[in-house]
Amino acid sequence: MPGPEAYDATPFVPEGARIGELREAAAGCEGCPLFRDATQTVFGRGRLSARVVLLGEQPGDQEDRQGEPFVGPAGKLLRRACAEASIDPDDTYVTNAVKHFKFELQEERGKRRIHKPPTLRELSACHPWLTAELHLVKPELVVALGATAGKALYGSGFRVTQERGSVLDPPDGLEADAVVATIHPSAVLRAGDNRDEVYAGLVADLRVAAGALG
Ligand code: URA
Repeated sequence: MPGPEAYDATPFVPEGARIGELREAAAGCEGCPLFRDATQTVFGRGRLSARVVLLGEQPGDQEDRQGEPFVGPAGKLLRRACAEASIDPDDTYVTNAVKHFKFELQEERGKRRIHKPPTLRELSACHPWLTAELHLVKPELVVALGATAGKALYGSGFRVTQERGSVLDPPDGLEADAVVATIHPSAVLRAGDNRDEVYAGLVADLRVAAGALG
């Protein structure tokens, strides 16, 4: 196996694997250095028959501890927003662009693990896992949650503020019929006094996603 300096998960992704084998292989991924500090790989979860894939950025603190995507506060909010937009959250496949939690320890905050956004290099290293997941799910729609998820699909030039809330052609090679981008649910949690308005924007974008399903 190549070392983590290769920044590429490809050698760890078994070809033609079923979802269980992929999940098992992902648990041992050393395709970039993020595996070193994270508790575990957080692979996608949900129905392979799902028409919608919800794509986040990377696991947060709680997801890292529990080994499941979107099980913390952002996930709770996302489920509520999906249901409000007529997307059944139990009929989705939920995953992240990067499968390990990236953080820094802040001593002055009682050694709290503070989320750090992944770099483009880390996004690209992890991309083979997303490709393998989408190959099995073959969704009608990928909902990119936030700028980083958008960049993972379309590259560094992607601007979620410009592209959100419309039905986008999928990038080359993406096994989905369409993409809708929106803000990350944690942006709602951080919105303070504007929280209701920011949440309504998320739901509106998710309604576009629901409407795009054939
Ligand atoms: N934020 C994400 O992008 N993904 C998770 O799984 C949790 C929080």
